[in-house]
Amino acid sequence: MKRLKAIYPGSFDPPTNGHLDLIERGSKIFDELVVAVLGNPEKDPLFSVAERRKMLEVMTAGYDNVTVDTFGGLTVDYALRVGAGAVLRGIRAISDYEYELQMALMNRKLQPGLETVFMMPAEKYSYLSSRLVREIGQLGGAIDCLVPPLVAQKLREKLDVAHKFEDDGSQEQGVSPERKPKSRRKKS
Ligand code: PNS
Repeated sequence: MKRLKAIYPGSFDPPTNGHLDLIERGSKIFDELVVAVLGNPEKDPLFSVAERRKMLEVMTAGYDNVTVDTFGGLTVDYALRVGAGAVLRGIRAISDYEYELQMALMNRKLQPGLETVFMMPAEKYSYLSSRLVREIGQLGGAIDCLVPPLVAQKLREKLDVAHKFEDDGSQEQGVSPERKPKSRRKKS
């Protein structure tokens, strides 16, 4: 019997509860699902590819048919290399649709045998994105309900390190403490 293998490519910077929701849904319809982290040198990611991979490995440890990998270059070439017949992508809202449709059609042009499968995460994740999680974390907002506990912890560690550097720089530049995010101020 033919087994259906799919890749779920993305930046995952960082992985969120919405990504996990989609992975769970994907794991139910595909025989094998590879979560593929793009190592994109054009972007300036908060987490390294290795860090994102590790977080996703921990998050998906409970799914027998889910693995995590990293890739570079075209998604269609990677899919071909690993023998996947489908690309899984999430659509949260209509605003995602245009970009996702364009990408799906371009991928089909490049590799006609590869299908894109769109799935919707639970409504409660429809407003959730990695970009917002980064921004909320950087500004000291609550992120625990948006990402798995491990990711929240890693995000705090990462932002604390960044903040230490920022502290040194801001002292030199005379930036007032009032301008710093609330939760990042040192206790006096
Ligand atoms: O999580 P993201 O950032 O929305 O994921 C976008 C991703 C990684 C799926 C897309 O940028 C991609 O496929 N990049 C690999 C390069 C590629 O294949 N580009 C042509 C897309 S039509």
